[in-house]
Amino acid sequence: MTEQQFIPQAYANHVSSGTVSWESPSNIALIKYWGKKKDQIPENPSISFTLNACKTTTVLSYSKKETISDFDFEVYLDGERKPDFQPKIKTFFERVFVYLPFLKQYKFKIETSNTFPHSSGIASSASGMSALALCLMSLEQQLQPEMTTAFFNKKASFLSRLGSGSACRSIEGDIIVWGDNETVKGSSDLFGVKYPYAVHDNFKGYQDTILLVDKGEKQVSSTVGHNLMHGHPFAQQRFAQAHENLSDLKPILESGDLDSFIALIEREALTLHAMMMTSMPYFILMKPNTLEVINKIWAFRKATSLHVGFTLDAGANVHVLYPKTEAKSILEFIKTELAIHCQNGQFICDEIGFGAKQLQ
Ligand code: PMV
Repeated sequence: MTEQQFIPQAYANHVSSGTVSWESPSNIALIKYWGKKKDQIPENPSISFTLNACKTTTVLSYSKKETISDFDFEVYLDGERKPDFQPKIKTFFERVFVYLPFLKQYKFKIETSNTFPHSSGIASSASGMSALALCLMSLEQQLQPEMTTAFFNKKASFLSRLGSGSACRSIEGDIIVWGDNETVKGSSDLFGVKYPYAVHDNFKGYQDTILLVDKGEKQVSSTVGHNLMHGHPFAQQRFAQAHENLSDLKPILESGDLDSFIALIEREALTLHAMMMTSMPYFILMKPNTLEVINKIWAFRKATSLHVGFTLDAGANVHVLYPKTEAKSILEFIKTELAIHCQNGQFICDEIGFGAKQLQ
């Protein structure tokens, strides 16, 4: 598919006002997207587990204006007006306007809330942007009712990507691939697709306990980080490695080989941070407690042979990943050994999920 296919024909229906609502989850990348071209086109493919508990609920109310003017919208978080969210949404509206030409015809109220604590250091951009994109697609579907579900999901992912790259992996579940690559049939730089191959039962209900090691504002945003991959001395090798890792992951997902799975995802996480540490300017997002946690996970794994591993996103928090069958002992370990390295002892128990849901 090309971008052009997301530009709608004249709409069939007239819709004057209404409300739509979606809840959309966050996701955690196993193979990381780090480095992008224009408009959130990724430099390399990525694959993620869709999460279940960490999600954003968005209610979009719309009413048609008398005359077509500039974008007209208000944003609320937990019932409170958020003028500081306006610029990001405005940029998003500008980017997607060509694909959603009705945007200037309506006045919008965007009411959003997250299940995870505000300022927990968990990025709400993936769940937030995907929830908004889905609401806008629900309005477009009313204007153009013959739209298929497959097209709806693709375009929702496509629009989410224009809001925040990794958001395009939050529409569906449980495993999503984003970025053109030879290994995965149907993969695209434009949107996320469901991983289309066999996945072993070992990965059903896979657990992700998110340790809130540092809840502060990140010193370097992911936008800045992505841009530092331009001219990065290891960029080309890193992009090639992501393709190789994706092809290596396929037999691992099929056979349920958890040792190889852990080795691959931990190396991916550390490679992401190695790219940050070797860019110019260089930076470190891990904190002392991130390393404490990693070392304890390694020691515990060695001592028990349980299949506990970690991944990191662009921050200090640690995602502890493990199979559901081993959850009891590993959660006990997290509570007794790892929680002390979290701010206020906080962590969030999540697991692999199946994507966004429309609410009534
Ligand atoms: O979607 P962004 O621009 O916030 O970038 C996300 C980057 C990582 O979380 C580090 C990796 C990924 O693939 O999600």
